[in-house]
Amino acid sequence: MISRTVQINGSPKTLIAPADTPLATILRDQLGLTGTKVGCNQGQCGACSVILNGKVVRSCITKLSRIDDGAQITTIEGIGTPDHLHPLQLAWIAHGGAQCGFCTPGFIVSAKALLDENPDPTRDEIRDWFQKHRNACRCTGYKQLADAVTDAAKVMRGEMSADELVFKVPADNRIWGTKYPRPSAVAKVTGTLDYGADLGLKMPADTLYLALVQATVSHAKIRGIDSSEAEKMPGVFKVITHRDVPGKNRISGLITFPTNKGDGWDRPILCDEKVFQYGDAIAIVCGDSEANARAAAAKVKLDLEELPAYMSAPAAMAEDAMEIHPGTPNLYYTQKIAKGPDTKPIFEGADLVVEDDFYVGRQPHMPIEPDVGFAYKNEAGQLVIHSKSIGLHLHAAMIAPGIGIDLENLVMVQNPAGGTFGYKFSPTMEALLGVACLATGRPVFLRYDYQQQMAYTGKRSPFFMNMRFAADRDGKLLAMETDYAVDHGPYSEFGDLLTLRGTQFMGAGYDIAAIRGEGRTVCTNHAWGAAFRGYGSPQAEFASEVLMDELAQKLAIDPLELRYKNVYRPGSTTPTGQDPEVYSLPEMIDILRPKYQAAKEKAKAASNDQVKKGVGVSIGVYGCGLDGPDSSEAWVGLNPDDTVTVYSCWEDHGQGADAGALGTAFEALRVTGLPPDRVRLVMNDTSKAPASGPAGGSRSQVMTGQAIKNAAEALVSAMKKPDGTYRTYAEMEAEKIPVRYTGKWTAPATNCDENSQGSPFSVYMYGVFMAEVAVEVATGKTAVEKMTLVADVGKINNRLVVDGQLYGGMAQGIGLALTEDYEDLKKHSTLAGAGFPYIKQIPDDMELIYVETPRKDGPFGAGGTGELPLTSPHAAVINAITNACGARVTRLPALPEKVLAAMPK
Ligand code: FES
Ligand code: FES
Repeated sequence: MISRTVQINGSPKTLIAPADTPLATILRDQLGLTGTKVGCNQGQCGACSVILNGKVVRSCITKLSRIDDGAQITTIEGIGTPDHLHPLQLAWIAHGGAQCGFCTPGFIVSAKALLDENPDPTRDEIRDWFQKHRNACRCTGYKQLADAVTDAAKVMRGEMSADELVFKVPADNRIWGTKYPRPSAVAKVTGTLDYGADLGLKMPADTLYLALVQATVSHAKIRGIDSSEAEKMPGVFKVITHRDVPGKNRISGLITFPTNKGDGWDRPILCDEKVFQYGDAIAIVCGDSEANARAAAAKVKLDLEELPAYMSAPAAMAEDAMEIHPGTPNLYYTQKIAKGPDTKPIFEGADLVVEDDFYVGRQPHMPIEPDVGFAYKNEAGQLVIHSKSIGLHLHAAMIAPGIGIDLENLVMVQNPAGGTFGYKFSPTMEALLGVACLATGRPVFLRYDYQQQMAYTGKRSPFFMNMRFAADRDGKLLAMETDYAVDHGPYSEFGDLLTLRGTQFMGAGYDIAAIRGEGRTVCTNHAWGAAFRGYGSPQAEFASEVLMDELAQKLAIDPLELRYKNVYRPGSTTPTGQDPEVYSLPEMIDILRPKYQAAKEKAKAASNDQVKKGVGVSIGVYGCGLDGPDSSEAWVGLNPDDTVTVYSCWEDHGQGADAGALGTAFEALRVTGLPPDRVRLVMNDTSKAPASGPAGGSRSQVMTGQAIKNAAEALVSAMKKPDGTYRTYAEMEAEKIPVRYTGKWTAPATNCDENSQGSPFSVYMYGVFMAEVAVEVATGKTAVEKMTLVADVGKINNRLVVDGQLYGGMAQGIGLALTEDYEDLKKHSTLAGAGFPYIKQIPDDMELIYVETPRKDGPFGAGGTGELPLTSPHAAVINAITNACGARVTRLPALPEKVLAAMPK
């Protein structure tokens, strides 16, 4: 133990801890300064940044021994408070810099040190600073953060008033379509929002801390589990194995289609007979501290018989491959598509045929906050599980039989989430928490370190694709054939649905009269397939968008004009045979065309023997909703103090569910004259709010938005008096008029049939992407210099939220194109190792252009947003690389060596 006397945020403090204790641990665990967040815990994300003697340090890797007596430490708590926001905090709010908000305290602290040193930094200096200090953000695309620092600096130099950064409600009381700050913004920028790990530190004293015993092989038979030594370790309360699970010990994959050869009960909560993937949980050690539990977990002995590991779809489909789940073939689901006439004669008679193979890999989600949760029994005896779940009611149904609990005794709550991007569409640790709480009768807490986050949460499912286009010599697409395999890892959850997304979105955006194809879902031993932004479209549309460029090249037609010729117009149908609900793509291309021409000329002029510059485009399309008649429910009630409460389970990845729910409700409520800050939100707790459905597939703004709108309109109509004014709560009570209303909505859509034909979504999102890149000829290293997106996501509810989604999604697209992967279980187990894009990899120049075509089936005309920016930006980047230097990379990511190898000599 050593001690140090320091100044923290201006107050003297004595720190006492073992010499190697990280400062982050002392700040958070001992001093309760939980505004400092811990993400990677290995110096790679900057979430834990504090200022030590005027310098930014990452407190997770700064040991107490390195801090001298008298040191000055500033944490986020010392920069501003909710009542006294620092200009940086005001600017972060004004620019929507805090999406999930988990990186925010670290960025603001880092920016404070920058401005202390350099009060007038250029944008490049701001970007260099965040790069140097490893400040990583997965949500925003970084642009808003540089905007925020620039404005804060102006305020601090006296060139701008702080008041200019404060949102003013317009005179017409309308916040729809504005940059109204999200309700959670103040808490996020001040570090006062408690995420799961922060709440974990505030749990009751009898809480048990959990550590997992996990597989370090990818496929094995379990011959024995010996926990005797672990049980004797200090602080251990209990070691839990599958024998302690009272239920089915399986998480249901909720099979969507009857032709699926599996039954969906393939994912163990705690492995019993077999290990199916690296990281699988085999036992849980419950101890009095995380350190003791982890130390004991290392003592559990596993007797495993290793089996051949099938780490890709082709390997698992090989004839001699054993069944990973005995009794279910590795190829367990097939999805066909048959639209229009037979394609065979069309291909035989076509002027032109192009064909290629494509691969989009196992992109990791890489939220800055690793997975975390806790569970306890409430006073009613119900099991309450808090996690990052973005499908609360869905997850309850998936885990209850496995845990062995009735649904009415299970409450699911979402903690503020430091980013999910879809990985939390799957239950991760919920069932483990439930089992441990029931087995011990105590509150339990579990958090993953970053290696566990990478190894034991789902990933994007790789698609191995072959695609062919038949076209006439004018470039009109006549037919498409597709053949693909989906590596969905060992667990079937939503794998059939994902495979259907392939047929729904290969060739999306184009009028193709004849389509034939087949996709297969394959069980492998690599990481299980989870939802990830775009869900199937980044794979499907990568193939069709790169093949479009190959066709353009063969025809010697400009790639944008080839697209213009083929995009949806009245009379066109989607790959599923549906009439698009709007036809905005031609208009969107018309808007982009002059920018595209200028970009091409600029690229040509700027290219030389060392650096080649190029421009690429792509079309992105995605549906809003789960397939078919997706539905949602919300409640709206008038309170005794005449505030209004909106109740929904519109879960938040960090995208802005609070702003979405508030903006939608308020657009209906504003006629009553209520100010927006009188609307309260009760969200994401199954005991307090209705089943609004999971926050996936860009469905929430449409489905839950419609439900909220219906409920709010019902309340407004009940409040309206004959003279046109509105009743107060007291008046409603006096007249015995109900004060709470339920809103429901069901999409007018139909499920696809076995040939993928149907009208699965009533609202779609459309985008035209343009990437401008520079390729270093000697190395193949690619830099994206600008991204442009012309987007039609319907009418915009909250501009800050939608901008944030689009910037952040494109940044993830650049990562998918160039660096991100989770293939190598060791190399890719950290943020940096898996190719996480820091600020200098993402261009500062990102342009958004909106075409707001109102959607008939969207609340106040709004569509969804979140998936669109990751439908096909990576295809635009790849097409731009080809345009720059002739290298065509069809297997992602386009690492420099691949680009170099593909470059014509
Ligand atoms: S750098 Fe400290 S938590 Fe990531
Ligand atoms: S807002 Fe930066 S990681 Fe979410």
